[in-house]
Amino acid sequence: MKKIASICCIGAGYVGGPTMSVIANKCPHIKVTVVDINEKRIKQWNQDDVSKLPVYESGLPEIVKETRGRNLFFSTAIDEAIDEADMIFISVNTPTKTYGKGKGLAADLKYIELCARNIARVAKTDKIVVEKSTLPVRTAEAIKSILHNTGNHVNFEILSNPEFLAEGTAIDDLLDADRVLIGGDDTPSGKEAKNLLSSIYENWLPKERILQTNVWSSELSKLVANAFLAQRVSSINSISALCEKTDANIDEVANAIGYDSRIGPKFLKSSVGFGGSCFQKDILNLVYIAKTFGLNEVADYWEQVIIMNNYQKTRFSDHMISTMFNTVAGKKIVFYGWAFKKDTNDTRESAAIHVADLLMEEQANIVVYDPQVSEERIYMDMDYLGTRSEAENRNLLTVTSDYMEATKDAHAIAILTEWDEFKTYDWAQIHKNMLKPAFVFDGRRILDTKHMKDLGFDFYKIGES
Ligand code: NAD
Ligand code: UGA
Repeated sequence: MKKIASICCIGAGYVGGPTMSVIANKCPHIKVTVVDINEKRIKQWNQDDVSKLPVYESGLPEIVKETRGRNLFFSTAIDEAIDEADMIFISVNTPTKTYGKGKGLAADLKYIELCARNIARVAKTDKIVVEKSTLPVRTAEAIKSILHNTGNHVNFEILSNPEFLAEGTAIDDLLDADRVLIGGDDTPSGKEAKNLLSSIYENWLPKERILQTNVWSSELSKLVANAFLAQRVSSINSISALCEKTDANIDEVANAIGYDSRIGPKFLKSSVGFGGSCFQKDILNLVYIAKTFGLNEVADYWEQVIIMNNYQKTRFSDHMISTMFNTVAGKKIVFYGWAFKKDTNDTRESAAIHVADLLMEEQANIVVYDPQVSEERIYMDMDYLGTRSEAENRNLLTVTSDYMEATKDAHAIAILTEWDEFKTYDWAQIHKNMLKPAFVFDGRRILDTKHMKDLGFDFYKIGES
């Protein structure tokens, strides 16, 4: 079996950056080069101060510090890195299409195709091309078709190796992955490629956790894993609405059902709705694929997970409005949290964006505090929605770095991300600062109901009456 001496990863984002940092760290014998068309991002990956990397992940700065410049490199020289590599990971974004056929549902594969064409143009030696991005089932066929028609006598082996890390715990997830999935052809060269990729992960993971399948099973398993996880969140969130009507408590219900070993305790935390760049995108993609094959009942079944998630976000903001005497116009509402979950600076599809948008439609004045998300990012999120002009967004929403000052004369606080620091705040002081009645809407169930009520707050916690 030949050896992998050099890896190139196209895409230095939330997956490419951390994944390749860990591979380089655990495989000092392999040169790993992460490339991107985004010069600013590459500059950020290369800056001396590793606390300011473009991706905020616990444990990542230490790994980058130890490995960068040794066998880990970040670069914009894409062609050179492709040329030099034995194995090329494609880890570019695959957002939902915003135009043409499949608009709003299908994955936009233009970035993937550009990568494949780039590899086809540059490669002079045999390569193993690894799909790391999440892709619709049978995408490898399109990549194959581009790579196998170059006429330059280079052999390409295509593998699917979807990533299962979750943001906020990416490094732990990579170092101690439940499983690694490698899909490839069952031909002798396909098997050799799968074994070569497996040998990389075997540097730190037990072989039993490295699963080999055919390409299509691997591609589809990634979409299905995300769909199942999101389905659990939507299921528990649907029950949270029922709890609010019946005096049941959603955490008690989740705990009780989670004790059943067939159900299990994880992913049953009721919230203001799931966010993140992937759950919605991947389910929509699954829905699109099912529809394409005429499986309308299958499509409808999975679409319901998204419908329930949208309902939860709207339900939360509607409840805020009705509790505040049916009007939030001109009222100061402080948002604690903007990221889609704690311990990440990623805000893609964050529930906070949608709740803010709905409240701003009612002319509320939103003040956002998030420990890791920049003001620039928050305005980009709002502007991207296109609901109102950039000037109106800046007029109705401001961003602060002072979580305590923000509460002065506020009508309400809404907790949109479960950052641990929110639990440690001086809530008695916050109560003093606010206008009365002082409303707190806990969309993440992180504060103690009795304590908050004892302090005098008008307190609402999602999933509790
Ligand atoms: P991202 O947007 O953070 O990063 C993608 C990067 O690819 C960007 O920096 C972009 O500039 C670069 N890029 C796009 N086209 C390029 C090209 N032609 N050449 C060079 N660079 C190019 O995306 P991400 O969150 O890292 O996600 C990447 C893929 O991984 C997606 O398919 C996603 O579904 C999947 N995924 C994401 C996560 C996650 O937690 N974010 C987890 C598992 C899987
Ligand atoms: C998710 C999956 O967990 C990863 O396995 C997958 O690789 C990744 O998507 C992907 O493909 O992008 P991620 O989106 O980073 O990871 O984070 P999760 O921990 O899954 O949380 C997603 C959303 O669900 C967050 O908004 C979170 O707050 C919410 N959530 C999660 C709940 O509301 N309740 C829960 O019990 C769990």
